[in-house]
Amino acid sequence: MSKPKVEIREAKTSDARSLNRFVRSIFTTSRHLITRAQEFRSGSFKQRGWIARKNSNSHEICLVAVTDKTVIGMLDSWTDRRQRVAHGTCFAMSVAEQWRSNGIGRALLEAFIDWVRKHPSLERIELHVHSDNESAIKLYESCGFKREGVRKGAVKYEDGRIIDDIIMALWP
Ligand SMILES: CC(C)(COP(=O)(O)OP(=O)(O)OC[C@H]1O[C@@H](n2cnc3c(N)ncnc32)[C@H](O)[C@@H]1OP(=O)(O)O)[C@@H](O)C(=O)NCCC(=O)NCCS
Repeated sequence: MSKPKVEIREAKTSDARSLNRFVRSIFTTSRHLITRAQEFRSGSFKQRGWIARKNSNSHEICLVAVTDKTVIGMLDSWTDRRQRVAHGTCFAMSVAEQWRSNGIGRALLEAFIDWVRKHPSLERIELHVHSDNESAIKLYESCGFKREGVRKGAVKYEDGRIIDDIIMALWP
């Protein structure tokens, strides 16, 4: 059977419902993100406003991976517009559990790097990743990101384990 087609594109306000469901499920299932599901209070209405604000901010983007009108992956970026740091931008990304290891994460990240390359003022991409998130670190390193620093013990899991937060960056 052929694989279903996955589209990588900017989020639209009409994705709000599906994106909201996706984000909630990611916060429920992934231990490698900071936000827990119970801390995520957005519903479809708020999500719609959030997408609209991203789309009207020329220094930020929300990319989604969509199949059959369902969001199965996302990457969103944010930028501090103060002059001395405005050349840098940060992002976070995730792919639905059942769709992982199919090249969707790489496709989202490559689309984002491409967008930054074409941007008139962005030069540096920064990310934060938990030190035990091996698959994400492999993906970032394979796209050229270098380790720049460590926030020792910055993350504490519910079972008491304390791990480091690694800072990586790329100058595309
Ligand atoms: C990290 C994440 C976004 C990767 O998405 P993905 O769609 O599975 O990634 P891809 O299939 O495009 O794989 C890209 C690369 O990641 C690495 N990778 C992916 N899955 C892996 C696994 N199970 N084990 C080791 N490396 C893996 C590989 O280097 C792979 O490249 P390759 O296929 O050429 O070997 C996904 O695992 C995820 O959503 N995790 C939960 C949320 C999260 O941790 N987000 C990142 C927070 S910083």
